[in-house]
Amino acid sequence: MTTSDIRQKAAAYWTDERLEKLTGGKKWLLLPNEAPELLQAIGLMNKDISISWDNTRKFSQINHMLQLLEKPLLDQASRQEELNLFDAGCGTSFLSLAMAWYLKNKVRRKFKLVGIDSNKNVIETSKHRAKQIGVDDASQYIAGMIPTSSTEYFKNEQEKNQRPNVLMALHACDTATDFAIALGIKDKADVIAVAPCCQNELSEKMKVDQPVGHPYESVFNSANIRRDIAANLTDSLRMLHLRSHGYEVTATEFVPSEHTPKNRLLLAIRRGNFHAESKEQLARLTDHIGGHTITLGELLV
Ligand SMILES: C[S@@+](CC[C@H](N)C(=O)[O-])C[C@H]1O[C@@H](n2cnc3c(N)ncnc32)[C@H](O)[C@@H]1O
Repeated sequence: MTTSDIRQKAAAYWTDERLEKLTGGKKWLLLPNEAPELLQAIGLMNKDISISWDNTRKFSQINHMLQLLEKPLLDQASRQEELNLFDAGCGTSFLSLAMAWYLKNKVRRKFKLVGIDSNKNVIETSKHRAKQIGVDDASQYIAGMIPTSSTEYFKNEQEKNQRPNVLMALHACDTATDFAIALGIKDKADVIAVAPCCQNELSEKMKVDQPVGHPYESVFNSANIRRDIAANLTDSLRMLHLRSHGYEVTATEFVPSEHTPKNRLLLAIRRGNFHAESKEQLARLTDHIGGHTITLGELLV
């Protein structure tokens, strides 16, 4: 079936009544009558154009994430002739492809999308999906590790100048999030959006290297609590690194916690001002937790 056939079928099926039931009357940036080829490509819509209950939840989450990123995305789209999107640890690329679809079909802006992942299979799936929604000409998928600078993966000089405007990393495992943030900071990405996951590094360091008599001794000794606190501290340290490199940063819940506990979005917007106070806060916090550092700090020296 061609895209136009799918859209015709979706326009007939997704009546106002069905749309109202699906969205609960809320504003969604992606609607099934408008983006059926995207939803089929990312596996959320059935061949008969219907959407299962389970996929309705996922669809609602994607809309929510896109809504959180809409303002910085549109802001960048209005400043750049061609917007550079970079998806680090892209997996099968559902969010970056949703963004690409939105930019192409709703905002009508030129963009380039680069996705990188160490797993060759998901790279092949992402390429296939990009083709299904007609953005393959504007997409490049690379099988490899997240680099620390775009000079490592871009071959020619013209490409090397393609600083990412929006760099995202959704649930890139453990320290892969640090690599993504470091890449964004070094390449001066305008927007860095990361949803961290399994922040194990600090917890492991706290477990094996406990300063004797430290006020957090009891925390360090209880694995469950240590993991939770270490995850929060990891993200606090990441925010301070970003701030001290000139980013304005917020931490928000991007999907309700009943869907996934890994629901924190760190959204950083580059303002370009070096922030001495954040650097001091970073040093104080690091000191307070026994001098433990995270990979991001090591990548930025
Ligand atoms: C949990 S999946 C998330 C995928 C996708 N971003 C999403 O939200 O559906 C994490 C992905 O990060 C990739 N990954 C982990 N560490 C990486 C690294 N250092 N460099 C590149 N890819 C990495 C894995 O192969 C995996 O596909």
